[in-house]
Amino acid sequence: MIRNAIVPVAGLGTRLLPATKSQPKEMLPVARKPIVQYVVEELVANGVGDILFVTGRNKASIENHFDSDPELVRALNNTNKTDLLQEVQFEELNANFFYTRQRQQRGLGDAILCGQNFAGEQPFVVALGDSILGLHGRSKTMGRMMQLFEERRASCVIAVEEVPLDQTQHYGIVQVAEQCEDYCRVGNLVEKPKPEDAPSNLAIAGRYVFSPLIFDLIRRVQPDRKGEIQLTDAIQLMCEEGKRVLAVKLPPGECRYDIGNFPSYFETFVEFALADPLYGEAFRETLKRLVRD
Ligand code: UTP
Repeated sequence: MIRNAIVPVAGLGTRLLPATKSQPKEMLPVARKPIVQYVVEELVANGVGDILFVTGRNKASIENHFDSDPELVRALNNTNKTDLLQEVQFEELNANFFYTRQRQQRGLGDAILCGQNFAGEQPFVVALGDSILGLHGRSKTMGRMMQLFEERRASCVIAVEEVPLDQTQHYGIVQVAEQCEDYCRVGNLVEKPKPEDAPSNLAIAGRYVFSPLIFDLIRRVQPDRKGEIQLTDAIQLMCEEGKRVLAVKLPPGECRYDIGNFPSYFETFVEFALADPLYGEAFRETLKRLVRD
């Protein structure tokens, strides 16, 4: 059983400025909840309850969000808003939260390295704090990834999603070495290839399962042109060394919502708001009116 997850949330989020000037992009709301809450709920629903956030400056609101707030609880009790109490009491989530800081934003690979002591000698999950899997975060793909990791004795399992071929230059793309039932063995990874150079249209989707071996490989990665240590490069090293790297495709109807840029953030917000059980229908009518006008 894998119990540990590292959730990197230390990035600067420059593509979402000015919204992210003094608040983490991972705390931006998508419909009713901040993005990172969907990520936590997905992890817990898949049996991963020990969660380390790799944070940075200006990220304290993430800690506050998952902390208890007796004053708020008292106020809600006093005003009989007990339904809202459920929404803010994360003690019942059955998760333990841990925090550490990445002092300099030296890339995703470097952020994961900050979790080495937390992970110890155990395999662990990485879930990007700015990506939601499945509508309202209700994805079970992580469970399948962990099952494969153990059954196939893999060194790494990556979630991938099909993207349009003309979009490959925005993603890390996998080259399939061997196709199996609902997963494949990865031969190679290519970071942001042009469509004509892309080995497939399967893009890395923000969820990973790793053996602790990854830490040594991250240490061997050279910084890129921006001075960042890329996690993809460390996984590529794994492939080159013949380690078993597998990829699980998101099932039909499930996609990865990456909220790291405005177009994708807007789309995600609208889709989640439309699916809101209480306000969705009225919002659909508003949208129709706005589009008509
Ligand atoms: P991104 O690749 O979107 O980078 O991070 P970013 O720095 O947050 O955003 P931009 O490019 O400036 O707009 C993917 C995930 O990795 C984390 C981010 O917080 C995000 O959840 N990350 C990234 C770190 O924790 N540390 C880093 O140094 C970089």
